[in-house]
Amino acid sequence: MPEVTVREMTSDEFEQWRGRAVRLFADSQVVAGSWPADEALEIAVKANEALLPDGFATTGMLFFRAVLPDGACVGASWLSLTHPRGVPDCAFIYNIEIDEPYRGAGFGRALLAAVEDAARSHGVGRVELNVFGTNSRAIQLYETSGYRVVAQQMRRSLS
Ligand SMILES: CC(C)(COP(=O)(O)OP(=O)(O)OC[C@H]1O[C@@H](n2cnc3c(N)ncnc32)[C@H](O)[C@@H]1OP(=O)(O)O)[C@@H](O)C(=O)NCCC(=O)NCCS
Repeated sequence: MPEVTVREMTSDEFEQWRGRAVRLFADSQVVAGSWPADEALEIAVKANEALLPDGFATTGMLFFRAVLPDGACVGASWLSLTHPRGVPDCAFIYNIEIDEPYRGAGFGRALLAAVEDAARSHGVGRVELNVFGTNSRAIQLYETSGYRVVAQQMRRSLS
């Protein structure tokens, strides 16, 4: 296993992480063709505020950092202990990301396992997440970690 420690974020770290995470989420929706580029950031900010009305202190939301022995942060994750659409006994991973230079070294797998452990330690029996169909690296990670598809959104071009 790679030498990485997963710990909860501090509130200062959360504020820095939040802005970046919202921008990346907006960008990913634009790349997926789901949101218009000129409105994406505003939509993402509103969605994030709705999910995190009390920011770092929002009930049931946990935020993690993956840290190397020298203290360098290599990634982060956001876990909700409840499901956004009410699936019973099911946590939801809103975000998991390893910083680009550190990808492919096993840190994502370690972070995912630690986030799952956190959900388990809060008495939750299942965990779910969304992933774009083009994100083959993440899909590979999830499939080899025991995740199975429960729903799919499909789209075709009509032009
Ligand atoms: C997805 C992500 C979190 C995975 O973290 P990572 O540290 O790169 O992944 P790991 O090194 O732990 O590898 C985990 C598994 O992913 C798969 N994988 C890793 N690199 C891969 C690559 N280049 N291509 C395909 N699959 C790959 C493998 O199955 C690997 O397991 P294995 O090494 O035991 O075979 C990371 O790549 C990332 O942050 N991507 C951008 C953000 C993102 O897409 N987040 C997920 C949103 S749903």
